[in-house]
Amino acid sequence: MSGRAKEYYLMHKDIRVCLMEISDDGALGNVRRNETAAAHFPLGGQMNNMKFHEWWRDRAIPKTRHGAKNALQKLNYSSTESALVNNLALSLSDCYWIMPRGEDLTWADMNLFTNDFTDVFGEITINRDYMVDLREKTRFDCATSQGELQKKWCIADDGRRYMVKGNYGQSYQQSLNEIFATELHERQGFSGFTHYYPVRVQADGNIEGIGCMCYDFCSEEIECISAWELLQTVKTRQNESFYHPLKRVCLELGMAERDFTEFMDYQIMTDYLMTNTDRHMNNISVLRNPDTLEILGFAPIYDSGNSMFYNVPYENLSQIKMDEIKTHSFVEKESHLLQYVRDRSVVDADKAEMDFSIYEKDVAERRIRIPKLKELYEKKRERLREFQKGKDIWKSRYSTRRAMRI
Ligand SMILES: Nc1ncnc2c1ncn2[C@@H]1O[C@H](COP(=O)(O)OP(=O)(O)OP(=O)(O)O)[C@@H](O)[C@H]1O
Ligand SMILES: [Mg+2]
Repeated sequence: MSGRAKEYYLMHKDIRVCLMEISDDGALGNVRRNETAAAHFPLGGQMNNMKFHEWWRDRAIPKTRHGAKNALQKLNYSSTESALVNNLALSLSDCYWIMPRGEDLTWADMNLFTNDFTDVFGEITINRDYMVDLREKTRFDCATSQGELQKKWCIADDGRRYMVKGNYGQSYQQSLNEIFATELHERQGFSGFTHYYPVRVQADGNIEGIGCMCYDFCSEEIECISAWELLQTVKTRQNESFYHPLKRVCLELGMAERDFTEFMDYQIMTDYLMTNTDRHMNNISVLRNPDTLEILGFAPIYDSGNSMFYNVPYENLSQIKMDEIKTHSFVEKESHLLQYVRDRSVVDADKAEMDFSIYEKDVAERRIRIPKLKELYEKKRERLREFQKGKDIWKSRYSTRRAMRI
């Protein structure tokens, strides 16, 4: 191990789940599990030590997070792993944290759900000119989280925790897509989604831009576990779609089959409408009671920003082949995802008629996209209708003929 190692307990609230060595730079060494607390050990690391090392590595903010390099420099951290350790690995999405051996800290005094913090790290990723004022130093300067986009956790006047997200590049479309998705779910009368609101953020060049924010769907009583982590509890075959393994794990953990398929059917069809190409396994989660370990169902749909052709230049929007769209999800081709849908009627295509005026808030050059986005969305809605009438649209003559094993 590089760097001097120190011993920490991995804590689940006040339960010591293992004792582990962590070096200055955040690397994990030896791990001694507390067998009497095995049920509280992170699901992602239960299978073996290698998996647990991966679980720990995944807990740090990805080094590829936009703005992370600048934030590390300004806060004098050598890596996102050292920022993780320095902030006791505390998160606003679950109840795990670390306690240095020999200290006597409690969850009540440490957790970010009820104790004050300033996510300076996150702040710098959003606003790179943010002045770090050491006089206002709080005990924690970073709440760990996943994802590539710049983001920060904040505390509202009423004490609620919320996350602010920025955008890649110059446009605000990813944030506006979250607002668009919110509107779509509201019109459907569906309740299992995360509500995103537009907010002003500092964009590159010191101008005011538009980001989005959402309230924390976790708390001291509700934590979230990603589909990716759940999948680490089972063996999967190479190239196998994760849909069925994930379903097996969820049912084994006590989720009703109907709850699984209804949520997935709805999410797959609304993602299809919005051409969300990023429903990867960290963008689906389940919720769990951290005390009883009971699975409470899926986390409300979140992270729908990589959709609506956000990364397609204007000139290429006319050449998009609807049945050839690639996605990062259970399978590679978007239209093939529809094969998983059990009940095609859980989305109402009539109620999916949308108002596109939210995109008028984008930067001036991007606004010419609006009629094109509307046209593409309407094509998708038409295809969804055909699908709902019984047509297996992935078998379209435009699409690959090779039968997919799903
Ligand atoms: N409202 C919320 N409450 C609690 N946890 C959340 C909330 N929203 C997101 N998270 C957690 O934070 C992580 C990152 O958020 P999100 O997926 O929105 O970011 P992202 O940077 O857009 O991700 P990606 O890299 O997939 O594009 C999620 O995977 C989830 O674990
Ligand atoms: Mg994400």
